[in-house]
Amino acid sequence: MKNILVTGGTGYIGSHTALALREAGYQPILLDNLDNSELFVLDSLEKISGVKFPFFEGDCRDSEIYSKIHELYPFDSIIHFAAHKAVGESVENPLKYFDNNINGCIVLLAAMKKLHVKNLIFSSSCTVYGNPENAMVTEQTPLAMPESPYGYTKLVCEQIIEQVLNSSSNLSASLLRYFNPIGAHQSGLIGEKPVGIPNNLVPYITQTAIGIRECLSVFGNDYPTQDGTCVRDFIHVCDVADAHVAALKHIEKQTKPSLFKFNIGTGKGTSVLELISSFEESTGIKLNWRYADRRTGDVIEIFANTDLSNSTLEWKAKRNINDAMRDAWNWEKSLHDLNNA
Ligand code: NAD
Ligand code: WQD
Repeated sequence: MKNILVTGGTGYIGSHTALALREAGYQPILLDNLDNSELFVLDSLEKISGVKFPFFEGDCRDSEIYSKIHELYPFDSIIHFAAHKAVGESVENPLKYFDNNINGCIVLLAAMKKLHVKNLIFSSSCTVYGNPENAMVTEQTPLAMPESPYGYTKLVCEQIIEQVLNSSSNLSASLLRYFNPIGAHQSGLIGEKPVGIPNNLVPYITQTAIGIRECLSVFGNDYPTQDGTCVRDFIHVCDVADAHVAALKHIEKQTKPSLFKFNIGTGKGTSVLELISSFEESTGIKLNWRYADRRTGDVIEIFANTDLSNSTLEWKAKRNINDAMRDAWNWEKSLHDLNNA
């Protein structure tokens, strides 16, 4: 069974990907500093998969950690999820994001070179497209200066990886630009667990539905879109996880150093109001929401052209937003039971 180092492995997308890797016959080796996740995720992964995933508590910026892990579990591929991802926080504290996200990526690349690790799958984001003229973006859509320091770290890391790869290293890399991952594993044992007040729409919806939040504010109803609210490409986190397995299988087949970029989305735009309706339809719960002012920095409309990822990776999102809303609500209820046990 091939070892795959998964940095940020107890995080939201990392934990779902670890499960998908195991199901695909890989052995995920998890590295996480628990800055934005908790140890109970390991127990949940064991309950779901029946196996204990090797876990190392440590920081991606620690250059020694990689050889320590490599000695015990030799690996030739890394999936790099570990990063800070709160857009608002990045505006208040850009240096925290530049250190963690950019420096973390640089130390990881240096370790890959030292250990002759060949393959890297990097967590990027559609944020690198900024506010695109054409809402449906392909991988060739010109990149733009993202609105936030967080988005900037994704753009810079993509360029650093490309430069390192061009410096005749024996590195292959796949940059996966996720759109809006939502939902949770159907078991209700893992999911998104934001710290404090959620920035993102779906956890705010489920926390409003369960009574943690009073009312959901819909940021803006006067956008030039079909119903006046922003449009996004919301993709089930388990489809994002499956995309990583597909990207890993694809990069393992490469016979020479290669760089790939893929949009990881459903290819469909969904408005904020449509997502709220999907939640109400999937759960039978009437959500308490109201219109509020626009949120600074919000992109009006963006969704993925997924032709390239569908064809090259032989991967396509197979779950819809109703599945995601059902699973997100299931997870919120499990969290509630966990907190009130
Ligand atoms: P998350 O915060 O749930 O997971 C990130 C994990 O990395 C956490 O468990 C955290 O403790 C860990 N971590 C952070 N810094 C670390 C460090 N220096 N060393 C070791 N571990 C560290 O976030 P997520 O939603 O799972 O996102 C995973 C990746 O996907 C991130 O790179 C994020 O930028 C990217 N991404 C996320 C979204 C999204 O909407 N969730 C969208 C696009 C891209
Ligand atoms: C979606 C829509 C809001 C909350 C962010 C990051 C991106 C990526 C995914 C990391 C927007 C509206 C939201 C609320 C609302 N993260 N909204 N009320 O902004 O598309 O993307 O998360 O990589 O980089 O930018 O996601 O869920 O915050 O917002 O009306 O309480 O929902 O205005 O239109 P976003 P989001």
